[in-house]
Amino acid sequence: MDLKEKIDLEKLPVHVAIIMDGNGRWARMRGKHRVFGHEQGVISVRETAEAAAELGIKYLTLYAFSTENWNRPMQEVEALMELLVQTINLETKTLIDNNIRLLTIGDTQRLNHQCYAELQKAIATTASNTRMDLILALSYSSRWEITEAMKQIAAKVRTGALQPADITENMISSHLATADIPDPELLIRTSGEYRISNFMLWQSAYTEMYFTQTMWPDFRKNDLHAAIIDFQQRERRFGKLNEQLNTCKK
Ligand code: IPE
Ligand code: IPE
Ligand code: MG
Repeated sequence: MDLKEKIDLEKLPVHVAIIMDGNGRWARMRGKHRVFGHEQGVISVRETAEAAAELGIKYLTLYAFSTENWNRPMQEVEALMELLVQTINLETKTLIDNNIRLLTIGDTQRLNHQCYAELQKAIATTASNTRMDLILALSYSSRWEITEAMKQIAAKVRTGALQPADITENMISSHLATADIPDPELLIRTSGEYRISNFMLWQSAYTEMYFTQTMWPDFRKNDLHAAIIDFQQRERRFGKLNEQLNTCKK
């Protein structure tokens, strides 16, 4: 069944983030090498980005490679880097055609030179696109980004540019990799794992979580639609009482 028409377009999440998980298991279940799962996962990336843009979602963040993923066997890391370069090359035109801007969060300077260069090129080419921001979390972890923010803030305190008493939540947010990006309202994790794996720990304070058994290479437009419908049925209270929310609406 096509779920798209059940979505209330007036109540879309502005920012959807996805922990794309299960590529390796998906491939192993088919007797294939893990890398085959990553390759198929690229199709899911394309479908999901297209579905998000079609709906009018403004920010889509995809967790593609974590800081901890550097600890995987070298062959897998290299295959992932190669796939990333290939995908950027192939998909930049699609991003331009669909008016999508590419951004990254993470320690991307750790990526190999070619990867980093290709990414910068695609980011520059799509810089003036306005329909949706596609944010790739690459060599990203939330503890890394919070540590970096702390270093920057400490340096400002040291020079006297900032007083400790002036440190606010907004200021901390503005030193994170996501400084110009609103917090995600909806976080999806595929593959039946129920954890955050060092992703957007600060930003997800009030994010709605959606976990699905679907492996990332099987994730299609309808799966995104299902997650959004589920999100739209939630009551987001932000610590208040249900009655207070009703009062606010009036
Ligand atoms: C997600 O799939 C992609 C990356 C983390 C790069 P996995 O590679 O984690 O696949 P599983 O979880 O082992 O099945
Ligand atoms: C999280 O998946 C990171 C990405 C999807 C990029 P992992 O497969 O690395 O996470 P764990 O190890 O199962 O927590
Ligand atoms: Mg995994």
